[in-house]
Amino acid sequence: MSEKKDVLILAIESSCDETAAAVVKNGREVLSNIISSQIALHTLYGGVVPEIASRKHIEKINQVIEAALEDAKVTLDDIDAIGVTYGPGLVGALLVGVAEAKAIAYAAKKPLVGVHHIEGHIAANFIEHKELEPPFFSLVVSGGHTHLVRVKDYGKFDIIGRTRDDAAGEAFDKVARAIGLGYPGGPKIDKVSKEGNPNAIPFPRAHIEDAPYDFSFSGVKSAVLNYINGCKMKDEEFKQADIAASFQKAVTDVLVANAMHAVEEYQVDKFAIAGGVASNSALRAAMKEACETRGVRFYYPSPIYCTDNAAMIGVAAYYEYMNGARSGWDLNAVPNLKLGER
Ligand code: KG4
Ligand code: ZN
Repeated sequence: MSEKKDVLILAIESSCDETAAAVVKNGREVLSNIISSQIALHTLYGGVVPEIASRKHIEKINQVIEAALEDAKVTLDDIDAIGVTYGPGLVGALLVGVAEAKAIAYAAKKPLVGVHHIEGHIAANFIEHKELEPPFFSLVVSGGHTHLVRVKDYGKFDIIGRTRDDAAGEAFDKVARAIGLGYPGGPKIDKVSKEGNPNAIPFPRAHIEDAPYDFSFSGVKSAVLNYINGCKMKDEEFKQADIAASFQKAVTDVLVANAMHAVEEYQVDKFAIAGGVASNSALRAAMKEACETRGVRFYYPSPIYCTDNAAMIGVAAYYEYMNGARSGWDLNAVPNLKLGER
């Protein structure tokens, strides 16, 4: 007799340099998605300064949450649960979101659901692909993570491969700085690469013999630095666009190769990419082609849901909430939280 009630999650994300809040309906519909980016501020220093990030989160978080509720045309009374990223990330930054979520949940007498940031990135795919359901495979490529993940069910993961050193996004950011593009590097390399030749410089592709799904990007990063130093010593000018395009090709080749190895080995039929680097145009194109030739359905979020946002945290929180997950008032920031742990 009773009609199924909509479940509304208010989600908060503050793990790095975006202060974000969102309202998500039934795990798939984004009613609001507010992001206050600190990029301009950190650009002055060439990267994220953790102490500045925490302070800015404190300044912005209340406004961002109010705007998220207002945009969604709801009040706290309408909200069923508060979802919040509690790791991994910068501890001081995470703490701001966690403390805020606890305070709201306590005051408004709402359940609290702590969310793993990477689980959020993967869940971003559910927003625009209503038909996508586990099981599927995912490649999570962000500034802090490079994970090849088997998504067994909502909130249930096996990590098949990971980076041994730098994350893919970290390599983009470091190389961008070295060739004079500045921070944040990923989008800038993506842009200038369009004017460069991806086959101009044969940067190395690391394959790890005994771990075919693992990644390593420190070698290609060093190779770029050595190449630039070599040019400087010979008093030769280097072509920024060619370096960018060749580096981007080296990284995406390895990401696609390992992902496709897993596709074949595990007989995957659905593949979703996630994280900031998933908005890279070369990676999207190469993954799409590789998936299509193997008859694998390929999914990717719009760029706004690839980089850090709270809508993705709201989606992940919804599925955790429906599975019965509840966090206590002792929920704490866990900077090195492992995927699949609660
Ligand atoms: O997911 P995200 O916003 O934050 C983390 O959880 O780390 O990812 C940020 C990373 C940065 O390293 C940024 O340079 C990279 O994603 N990124 C890109 C692109 N857009 C963002 N990398 C390559 N191509 C892009 N278009
Ligand atoms: Zn992220």
